[in-house]
Amino acid sequence: MSEDRLLSPNSFAEEDFLDQSIRPLFLQDYIGQDKVKENISIFIKSAKERSEVLDHVLLSGPPGLGKTTLATIIANETGHPIRKTSGPAIERPGDLAAIITNLEPGEVFFIDEIHRLNRVVEEVLYPALEDFAIDIVIGKGPAARTLRIDLPPFTLIGATTRPGLLTSPLRDRFGIMCRLDYYTVEDLTDIVIRSARILNIDIAAKGAGEIAKRSRGTPRIANRLLKRVRDYAIVKGDGMIDLDIANLALDMLEIDDLGLDNVDRMIMDAIITKFNGGPVGLETLAATVSEERDTITDVYEPFLLKLGFIQKTPRGRVATKRAYEHMGYPMANLDNPSLFNDD
Ligand SMILES: Nc1ncnc2c1ncn2[C@@H]1O[C@H](COP(=O)(O)OP(=O)(O)O)[C@@H](O)[C@H]1O
Ligand SMILES: [Mg+2]
Repeated sequence: MSEDRLLSPNSFAEEDFLDQSIRPLFLQDYIGQDKVKENISIFIKSAKERSEVLDHVLLSGPPGLGKTTLATIIANETGHPIRKTSGPAIERPGDLAAIITNLEPGEVFFIDEIHRLNRVVEEVLYPALEDFAIDIVIGKGPAARTLRIDLPPFTLIGATTRPGLLTSPLRDRFGIMCRLDYYTVEDLTDIVIRSARILNIDIAAKGAGEIAKRSRGTPRIANRLLKRVRDYAIVKGDGMIDLDIANLALDMLEIDDLGLDNVDRMIMDAIITKFNGGPVGLETLAATVSEERDTITDVYEPFLLKLGFIQKTPRGRVATKRAYEHMGYPMANLDNPSLFNDD
């Protein structure tokens, strides 16, 4: 049901194409995430000084925050090509062997959703990451023997929304780990202004600020809202996005002033009214709002946690005082007052 949801931080197929023009290509155009940027630029410089390839990098964080973008940037900054695939796309060890034996020296190998790599494939990756070699079994039965093939040195960049699901042997083989966090409104405002400039959209700073404020800390959503508000500005105004047009358009899109949409509100509404503030289990909650369990944990929940609207307890999710206030409900659940000491 969330397939075409405006606020889904997952990308739409049509969007990937449109995004080509606004996706930053070098670190200097990558807005925000200052700590991550600084670290990465130091590691890249050091690798260049040593004439070695960059250590393997693990990028984690909720969808739409710029993991794929950053992987491309790292390849551009190191001056090497990038080959992209995803965990579920590599089905057999042979698929992986075929890719990594064909990498150019220094090439960046990007595996999106690396937590979904299957175990047999993952085991081929261990020696590849550690010794730049793979072991291939030749023959069957008692005559079988292993042949070690050397690989060109390369940099693996893994991206994941769920770093906790990585096995520890895999996690241990990444020398560099970067966690991307939700963006500040200031950084998102800069991103909206930059995208508007590239797309030739006329926008006032306050209009950009309003879009940024309602984008759940997520650049992908900010760019998407910018395009929808632009449509509104063209049809209902003179094409210019000012504060009034931005407010009108975003209200019409039913995105509230914290960036919540109707599914977020449905989730909060369910916890508060149907389950008396919680705790409610993940399965029950997912069934109540007719969403996949993984969609709740990967997409909705991280932002609701970030806003301080829900807390995770061993017995399930509970709504906080802040959530009651935002949703306009008087506080219930007085037998559990400790849950409300969240500010
Ligand atoms: N730091 C950033 N500065 C500017 N634009 C960004 C930044 N991070 C992401 N974006 C934009 O947001 C979109 C989504 O980023 P992406 O790298 O696909 O996210 P992820 O891989 O984490 O889901 C990109 O197309 C890009 O245009
Ligand atoms: Mg991505």
